Formats: sequence, structure tokens, C-alpha cells
Amino acid sequence: MSVYSATLTVMINAARKAGRQLARDFGEVENLQSSVKGAGDFVTAADIRAEETIRDELMRARPAYGWLGEETGETKGKDPQRRWIVDPLDGTTNFMHGLPHFAVSIGLETKGEATAGVIFDPAKNELFVAEKGGGAWLNDRRIRVSARRDMLESLLATGLPFAAKKTLPDTLQDLAKLLPETAGVRRFGAAALDLAYVAAGRYEAFWERELNAWDMAAGIVIAREAGALVSDLNGEQDMLSRGEVIVATPDLFEPIRQRLLR
Ligand code: IPD
Ligand code: CA
Ligand code: CA
Repeated sequence: MSVYSATLTVMINAARKAGRQLARDFGEVENLQSSVKGAGDFVTAADIRAEETIRDELMRARPAYGWLGEETGETKGKDPQRRWIVDPLDGTTNFMHGLPHFAVSIGLETKGEATAGVIFDPAKNELFVAEKGGGAWLNDRRIRVSARRDMLESLLATGLPFAAKKTLPDTLQDLAKLLPETAGVRRFGAAALDLAYVAAGRYEAFWERELNAWDMAAGIVIAREAGALVSDLNGEQDMLSRGEVIVATPDLFEPIRQRLLR
């Protein structure tokens, strides 16, 4: 059992509060599935409401911090060194289709580095948390990356481009290289949970080519604190600015990254 810092506790409370709201809204989405109009507008409203809840909680506790949220954008803080990075609902397409795989993601950036993260999956009641130097935790149990070393036994996850994303050719090449050499590649549809699942040892690696800072900030800390290596596809630490990430167990990180180079 871990003792979390005051800041992490604020983040956890905000994530749980927004998560409870989303769980209620998810029940309503399931009812709307069969209506002709669908759940689109309702989900957009739920997403915005969740961000408002998180913002109220976090900014009340730490009013000087800056803010970057998917729905409300960026607000500079009086404290130039600290910034919340928030995705109130990661996995929106799943949520909208009644698929119970989505999460609230709250990251804290300190001097340009992600230093604390909370990811809450209300449908499975799974809370992933980490703070730099304090280890990674799932529902108060310490988590570690998987010990599998063999590429052929390793399970990977990625995000597949949709709509007008330009990364389709690169992603198809990634899959052509990695599918024959691994136990498989999953696409679950919530990048924050993908990072958390590598931390929990559920799969050995995750990469995605076109992400936003709010998809990754919390998960990067959680994965790293669980013993994963994390970088952009060039092996640098510019994940948030380049909008891409690879995260993997130490043994499999370089072999997989090499196969993603162009
Ligand atoms: C999306 C999910 C998805 C990833 C997309 C993201 P959203 O976030 O994380 O897994 O493939 O790139 O945009 O829109 O559900 O918050
Ligand atoms: Ca997202
Ligand atoms: Ca989102």
C-alpha cells in the first residue's frame, strides 16, 4: 500500500469524481445506442462536463498551475513550471459505441517533464497512478512491466489511423514488420490505457504515431515508474511535442523501435 503525495491525492480525487460522472453517462449511452439520432451530442456534452469537473478540482487545489485540456485548450498559469495535462475522456469512440474501455487521464508536467500521472478506468474500476521516483500502482498494488523477453511471445498494441490521419502508410508498414515477429498487435482504442497496460505487464509494448500531449502525459510517468522505457520513435524525449510514443519493456524496446524507423 502506498502513501500518495498531496498532489497525487488531488489528482486521484478529480479522476474518480469525473469517472463516476462518466460511468453514469455511459449507462445512458447504452440506452441511446438503438435510437436513430445516436449518442453523438450526448457524448460531446459528457466529455465537456467531465473536463469541467476535473478543472474545478485541480485548479481549486493548485490555482497557480497552468492548464492544457483537450476540450478547453491551454491556459498559462502564474507558475510557469507546472502544468496539468488532461484528457477527460480517452477512448471516446469506444464510449460512444457502448464499449466499456475508456478512461480519465490526468498528467502533471514539471519543467517540461511529465512527473505525475493518474489514469482511471471507471468501467473496470482500475486506477493507475504514479509519481516520479515513487513507483507505479494499480488500485494500490505495485505494478511492473512484463518479464517476457522473446519477441515471438510478446503482445503489442498500437493505434490505427482513422478519418483523415496521414499516418496510414507508415502504420501499415509497422504492422507488416511486427505482425510476423510477435504474438500479435492489439488496437483497443484508448491510448492512455495502452500506456497503463504496458506498465501493468499486460502487453510488452505500445506505440502510436499521431497522438496529443493529453493522450500520453499521465501514461508516460506510469509506464516509466513501472520499469518501461519510453521515447519518441527517434529515441528522443520529445514525445509530447512530436505527438508520438513508443513504450516497451527494457529488453524489447530497441528491437521494436528499430522496426518502426523509416
Ligand atoms: C484517441 C484514443 C485512441 C487513439 C487516438 C486518440 P480520444 O483519444 O486515445 O486510442 O488512437 O489517436 O485521439 O479522441 O478518444 O480522446
Ligand atoms: Ca485521447
Ligand atoms: Ca478525449
